[in-house]
Amino acid sequence: MKPVANLTDSEAAASSLDQTSTTLNIAIIGFGTVGRSVARILSERSSADLRLTHIFNRQIARKRVGELPETIRWTEDINDVLSSDADVVVELIGGLEPASEWIRRALKSGKSVVTANKQLIARHGAELVRLARENGQHIAFGASVAGGVPVISGLQEGLAGDELVELYGILNGTCNYILTRIESAGVSFAEALQEAQKLGFAEADPTDDVDGFDARAKLTILARTGLRVSADLESISAKTISSIEPVDFEYAKLLDCTIRQLSRARKTSKKLFATVGPALVHASSPLARVEGARNLVMSTGKFGGETVFGGHGAGGHPTAVAVVSDLIAIARSRQVNGAALNEAEGEIPTLSVSPDFTSRHYLRFTVQDEPGIIASLATIFSRLGINIDSVFQKPGYSKSKLPFVITLEPCPASLVEKALTQIASLKFHVQPCLNLPILD
Ligand SMILES: NC(=O)c1ccc[n+]([C@@H]2O[C@H](COP(=O)([O-])OP(=O)(O)OC[C@H]3O[C@@H](n4cnc5c(N)ncnc54)[C@H](OP(=O)(O)O)[C@@H]3O)[C@@H](O)[C@H]2O)c1
Repeated sequence: MKPVANLTDSEAAASSLDQTSTTLNIAIIGFGTVGRSVARILSERSSADLRLTHIFNRQIARKRVGELPETIRWTEDINDVLSSDADVVVELIGGLEPASEWIRRALKSGKSVVTANKQLIARHGAELVRLARENGQHIAFGASVAGGVPVISGLQEGLAGDELVELYGILNGTCNYILTRIESAGVSFAEALQEAQKLGFAEADPTDDVDGFDARAKLTILARTGLRVSADLESISAKTISSIEPVDFEYAKLLDCTIRQLSRARKTSKKLFATVGPALVHASSPLARVEGARNLVMSTGKFGGETVFGGHGAGGHPTAVAVVSDLIAIARSRQVNGAALNEAEGEIPTLSVSPDFTSRHYLRFTVQDEPGIIASLATIFSRLGINIDSVFQKPGYSKSKLPFVITLEPCPASLVEKALTQIASLKFHVQPCLNLPILD
């Protein structure tokens, strides 16, 4: 199919007829977990609107499987795909390069693109959407956030009539699995991580997940899609979940809360408030009920209020469902003469990012017990105008490594950081204070 933007009027008229009757030819690049699932779903669909024509991977011979149609061309030469008659390239190799170069080449050669690559879309999404538009093509990335949960299409289409002001949620299944295991089995972070690795929920190098970089990329995409704000990925603060211990769940429970890795973004006229990191969420919140590797995204709209999207955030099949849904959307949009599927036109401002949410805070101190600790902490807080809300100390811990918790009344995160810098110089700490926001 020729790109709609490059057609003459008479070609366009003919093409619009073509498009209603033409099957979309699909090339998959990257035949791994998601690629295999996409191929399977395409081969099992009864409808003839999507036809898998090419599968590309390095060292392709070891990837061949018998159950797919014999007409598929298996190749390890990317030029076979880029110079083919494929209408859509499905990029599933991951990573920034060569994925980014191949996507650009595909768009320029008149092919639409579907990708699940969050790091790439978070960094280069705006430019790739522009390139797609210039070439009369689509780039769809519904699988890049929350796997099989249709949050991108939900924000782009289902909630297009609202003006969203806030998005927050659980965007990383690995972190959610680890935290729910620490909570339910009372195991340490290291043990829960090992379990997650054995079960295939965590990579051998878990940094991207546990330190929040994966969720940060997804939050950047959500902010652009839902809040229509562009933000520099690196400027969003990401905090690790590796400092969470079983005792934090015990104290969280006393506060009628649990702990989840929370990604949140709130738009104001001048700033985008955005952070990723562990936070206390109330037991009655839908966030608290997200178990194992599931994802959940909540949006708040000026007119429509709160909306919740939830389900399987990862895995071959759920992610492939999102990819195939994007392919179907492209096929449908071609049938209505190239209707825009890309993000809505119009200016998307770049806002500066601030981590400075105002909220209650949970501070867990681990100290060598001695008289006067609470008094010295209270002095620093009161000098800065911070109000202590409550103090908890569970019995049964050694005096040489005593955990206790102070909660603070709502105040800006920056003010709490200022207090903690002063507090860090006090001599009784056995380990650094854990500071978590409490989501109300
Ligand atoms: N898996 C999930 O649950 C999930 C969820 C959401 C989004 N995603 C995204 O989906 C994409 C694919 O993920 P995946 O889990 O399917 O990854 P995967 O299992 O590692 O598959 C990637 C495939 O691409 C091939 N490949 C990688 N680099 C290549 C290159 N330079 N040239 C040729 N072939 C190359 C790999 O070949 P080798 O076998 O030789 O390595 C492998 O077959 C990623 O962007 C990921 O972030 C995945």
